[in-house]
Amino acid sequence: MSLSKSKIVQQFNRAASRYDRFAELQGNISADLVKAVDAYAEPQKSTIEIADFGCGTGTLIKALADLGYQHLFGFDIAPMMVEEAKRKCPPDVSFGCGDIESLAAQDNSFDVIVSNAAIQWCQSEKAFSEINRTMRTGGRAFVCTFGPQTLKQWQDAFSFDGGCRVHTFETSDQITSSINRAGLKLLSIETQLIDVSFTSVSAMLDSVRRIGATNAQQTSETKPISRSDYQAMKARFQDTLRNEGKLTLTYEVISIVAEKK
Ligand SMILES: C[S@@+](CC[C@H](N)C(=O)[O-])C[C@H]1O[C@@H](n2cnc3c(N)ncnc32)[C@H](O)[C@@H]1O
Repeated sequence: MSLSKSKIVQQFNRAASRYDRFAELQGNISADLVKAVDAYAEPQKSTIEIADFGCGTGTLIKALADLGYQHLFGFDIAPMMVEEAKRKCPPDVSFGCGDIESLAAQDNSFDVIVSNAAIQWCQSEKAFSEINRTMRTGGRAFVCTFGPQTLKQWQDAFSFDGGCRVHTFETSDQITSSINRAGLKLLSIETQLIDVSFTSVSAMLDSVRRIGATNAQQTSETKPISRSDYQAMKARFQDTLRNEGKLTLTYEVISIVAEKK
C-alpha cells in the first residue's frame, strides 16, 4: 500500500478546525486510551514522559494534562492539527510537526507512547519501529488503530466500478507481525467491532469526510470518482436508509499494548 503523505497532510489540514465536532468515535476511543494510560502511569504522574503520535487536535493530550500529567509531547504530520492542539492544551505541552514513520525525536525519549486512530495512515512496521526507537527500555505503548472491516459499508458502495475507493486497513495479524519485527514485546492485541448509526446520508458521509479520513492511497488503478459514480453511491445509501430506517458504519478497532524490551 502506497500512501500520499502530501494528500494526508492536505486532508487533515483542511479538516483541523472542524475535526472535534465530527470525531465522536475517535473521541470515545481516546477517552478509553486515557483511562488505560492513567491506570498504568498514575503513580508517576509528575515525572513520566508521555508522547502522543498523531495527536491531531490534542484531545488525548489535553485529557492527560487535566489529570495532572506534567511532561507531555504531541506529534502530528499536519501543521494545522498541531495549531489546534496548541490552542487547546496548556502552554507547557510540547508539540512537533512530523511523520510518525521518521520522527525528529531522540532515541529513548519517552516512558509511554500513545497513539489513537493515526497508525492506519502509516506503514505499521515503520511506525512501530519509531515507537521502539524513541521509547525507553521497559516503556509502554498504548495504540488504537483500525482493521479491515472498518467502513465496510463504504467499501461495498464504492467498489461498484471495480476499483475500491476506501483505504486498505492492515489486519490484526499483519499488525502483530509489524510489532514483532519492530522489536517490541506485544502484551495484548484486541479487536472490537463498533457500529455507528446515522439518520441521513449527509451525516454519514460527513462523519468520515469532515475529519479528513478520505482515501489517500496511490495505486495505478485508482481513477478519480466521477460525479455520476458519486451520485449512484449516494442513491444506494438513500435506498438503504429508506428500507432500514438508518445507515450504519462499522469500525474495527484494534487496541494494542506493547512494551520496549
Ligand atoms: C483520525 S486523526 C486522529 C487524531 C487524534 N489522535 C484523535 O484521536 O483524535 C489522524 C491523525 O493522524 C495524523 N497523521 C496521519 N499520518 C501521520 C503520520 N505519518 N505522522 C504523524 N501524524 C500522522 C493526521 O494528521 C491526523 O491528525
